[in-house]
Amino acid sequence: MDSNKRPDSMKRIDNEELAKEFIDEQIEAIKAQVGDKKVLLALSGGVDSSVVAALLIKAIGKNLVCVHVNHGLLRKGEPEQVVEVFQNQMNANLIYVDAVDRFLDKLADVADPEKKRKIIGGEFIEVFAEEASKLEGISFLAQGTIYPDILESDGVKAHHNVGGLPEDLQFELVEPIKLLYKDEVRIVGKVLGLPDNMVYRQPFPGPGLGVRCTGAITRDRLEALREADAIVRREIEKLPETPWQYFCAIPDYQTTGIKYVDGKGERYMGWPCIIRAVNTTDAVKVTVPEIPFDVLCKMRDEIVKIPGINRVFWDISEKPVATIEME
Ligand code: XMP
Repeated sequence: MDSNKRPDSMKRIDNEELAKEFIDEQIEAIKAQVGDKKVLLALSGGVDSSVVAALLIKAIGKNLVCVHVNHGLLRKGEPEQVVEVFQNQMNANLIYVDAVDRFLDKLADVADPEKKRKIIGGEFIEVFAEEASKLEGISFLAQGTIYPDILESDGVKAHHNVGGLPEDLQFELVEPIKLLYKDEVRIVGKVLGLPDNMVYRQPFPGPGLGVRCTGAITRDRLEALREADAIVRREIEKLPETPWQYFCAIPDYQTTGIKYVDGKGERYMGWPCIIRAVNTTDAVKVTVPEIPFDVLCKMRDEIVKIPGINRVFWDISEKPVATIEME
């Protein structure tokens, strides 16, 4: 039987009872596969790797070694949440790697979007491989591959970037959620006790805020973006219906602003912040939901207080012609 094919007899996990059954089965399967050996996992804090981590912690406890690479392009509070949930609450064996300077130094002055993506992906593999090579006795690599990854690609989770590990670091794979669809992964995550904002997280690209801080990333613009993104997420999540994806971007150009010092107007240059919210089912065609004007104004009033930002745009472009991300 092809282990990468979902059997027709497999029930759709659409309630907590079925999720519990799945969890119990997987715990047994993981124990049978890995025994008392050690398993390594790149834990981004996204839904899939978080659910895999929670499952493996239940199955093998400290024999799971999670590596969280902070590349500096994560959203506000994300690295802290990974440490809080997995290290403090779930007592996981977690290695937190602060690789912020390393990534941002490599990305300095790189304006080409594809080069930026390559640097982020390549550097991620290097950092992860370096951490893996420091560890002894690792026999398995866990991955958050899910069924759409298998259907859409060759089964390797592209954005986890660990498919490209060096030869001497190739491990046997543990992929406990590879036959699940995203909605099923979320129910399993909920039953495993992961927080709602992790389980119902909107899609977030592998290169993170890097594709929203367009052109050559500078630290000050990236920090402004991280702050603005937190405001946009907070306000949009208060809407009765949360769009499929919602965020902001800061392009690499400035426009004129004015500020008053001692009653006298002074012109200065600042960045615009672009708010984007989209609805879609497949990310191929997207529409733009309405955001009430008072909500836009509330976001604007807070965003323009962030140092460096002096203007706020609302992107109402659909896909096609525009992509969801800016790069
Ligand atoms: P676009 O911008 O192509 O995005 O309309 C479609 C969906 O894919 C996400 N996205 C990425 N995800 N690595 C990822 O893992 C990437 O490089 C990447 N670029 C875009 C995007 O957030 C949207 O959900």
